[in-house]
Amino acid sequence: MSHIIAPSILASDFGNLQSEVEMVNQSQAQWFHIDIMDGVFVPNISFGFPVLKQIQKHSTKPLDVHLMIVNPDQFIKKFAEHGTEILTVHIEACDHLHRTIQAIHAEGMKAGVALNPHTSITLLEDIIQDIDLVCLMSVNPGFGGQKFIENTYNKVKKLKKLIVEKNSKALIEIDGGVNAETAPKLLEAGADVLVAGSYVFGANDPKATIEGLVGL
Ligand code: DX5
Ligand code: ZN
Repeated sequence: MSHIIAPSILASDFGNLQSEVEMVNQSQAQWFHIDIMDGVFVPNISFGFPVLKQIQKHSTKPLDVHLMIVNPDQFIKKFAEHGTEILTVHIEACDHLHRTIQAIHAEGMKAGVALNPHTSITLLEDIIQDIDLVCLMSVNPGFGGQKFIENTYNKVKKLKKLIVEKNSKALIEIDGGVNAETAPKLLEAGADVLVAGSYVFGANDPKATIEGLVGL
């Protein structure tokens, strides 16, 4: 499978949301990454359903929603109603992860599990067969534009091994600090999906930057 690029709307110009979404529509990006932060799980607040509704209205790409919130279970249905295709919850925010995954699937969405930089891959051993995606945080969640954590390459390799061993279909997504330097190394280590925020939206030509990542 060739890799997927998911531009993160967090780094876009929210004053021109529609044209930013159109840019992604017209690009070769396969997914749209959407960061939801509650100010409790992470020390930042991003945006909620009114903004997501506008993205849903204009986007022609699958919405890859990354929840950085406590108690994600209470909003699963609402994210499905807002056109979410892949819903990712943090392992650190779920007491009953298996139940949460079942609830996401019951709403017809793909289920992802995100791991903070300090969280071990071994915690996925008994859930990897039930999930569609693992999102490895390569920065501490909460902000765009942070420095990539180098240990992520080791985690990708360990995760790839686990996925093969367990015959899982889960995709490996990397979130944080993806750019021209880190992207090729991540793909070589086994990543399937690369999220890119500031590298894309901070570029002079965001569309060409996306094409550059797609073409790796
Ligand atoms: C961080 C978010 C990321 C963020 C990535 O908490 O989950 O998706 O937008 O931003 P960059 O690519 O700028 O590191
Ligand atoms: Zn994210």
